[in-house]
Amino acid sequence: MPGALVVVGSVNADLYVEIERLPARGETLAGANAAMRPGGKGANQAAAAARLGQETWLAAQLGTDAFATPLRAALGEAGVKLDLVTAVEGESGQAFILLQRGGENSIIVVGGANGRWGGVGAAVRDRIAGAGALLLQREVPEEVNLAAAAAAHAGGVPVVLDAGGVDAPIAPALMRLVTVFSPNETELARLTGLPTSDDAQVLAAARRLQAGGVATVLVKLGARGALLVPPAGEPLRQRAFPVEVVDSTGAGDCFTAAYAVAMLEGQASAARLTFACAAAALCVQQRGALPSMPRRDAVERFVAAL
Ligand code: RIB
Repeated sequence: MPGALVVVGSVNADLYVEIERLPARGETLAGANAAMRPGGKGANQAAAAARLGQETWLAAQLGTDAFATPLRAALGEAGVKLDLVTAVEGESGQAFILLQRGGENSIIVVGGANGRWGGVGAAVRDRIAGAGALLLQREVPEEVNLAAAAAAHAGGVPVVLDAGGVDAPIAPALMRLVTVFSPNETELARLTGLPTSDDAQVLAAARRLQAGGVATVLVKLGARGALLVPPAGEPLRQRAFPVEVVDSTGAGDCFTAAYAVAMLEGQASAARLTFACAAAALCVQQRGALPSMPRRDAVERFVAAL
């Protein structure tokens, strides 16, 4: 039985509208199918892991607005343990998602409660210290991630950091505590200052991060798949599985969480990559971030049919 996964991160009300294309400056466009769907990188990753059968705790902050109740309910229905999800006065996190034809999106995030952490409490630190792994992203203040990663490090717990959430440098003190770092190719380029247009460039940029102390680099390449660069030995390349993309929102979260689950289960590196790409392939076929996280049986059926 793998140890528990603790996810520290954000919860957002994703406010969707579907459009043909982005409006030009000063232009008004008609949208359709406006809807609130649960999301936020922390919530998405926790829900994905729980749906894949992993015992998962989320440490997060909701507001006291009308979004808080449905967001908490969605996490509970996914099987996420909610004891460490607290309420802070004011608005919950929100993400305004412009979903375009072909599944591409443009997103504006209002941090709300995700930005109002007053520290990482003893209950969260204790849960992390006893976990099998800690999973982080970058939609909460950096000092929250630093405190969580320090608690994991003190307990010998591996830390997986998804680079998604904010376009800003990462504190070297945090990077030094990370076991698996997972950027997409754009984030990798920004963080290293190196081009990431092809596999050779991606590998060179990942090696640059490793030279700075990161053990394993797991690069999400979107429609091109993923590249796993372990600290020693050959990199592993997994092509994406061709599926019809309805909504790519949350696919990266799904991928990173599925990789973390497979890692906790002790799956071999190649199997982890296949599992994570399969989960992401299922995720992009549904609307919404958290609602589109696939269940274990669906991922296993997908992999078995490959
Ligand atoms: O990674 C996808 C998430 O990013 C969405 O659910 C949205 O909340 C934004 O934070």
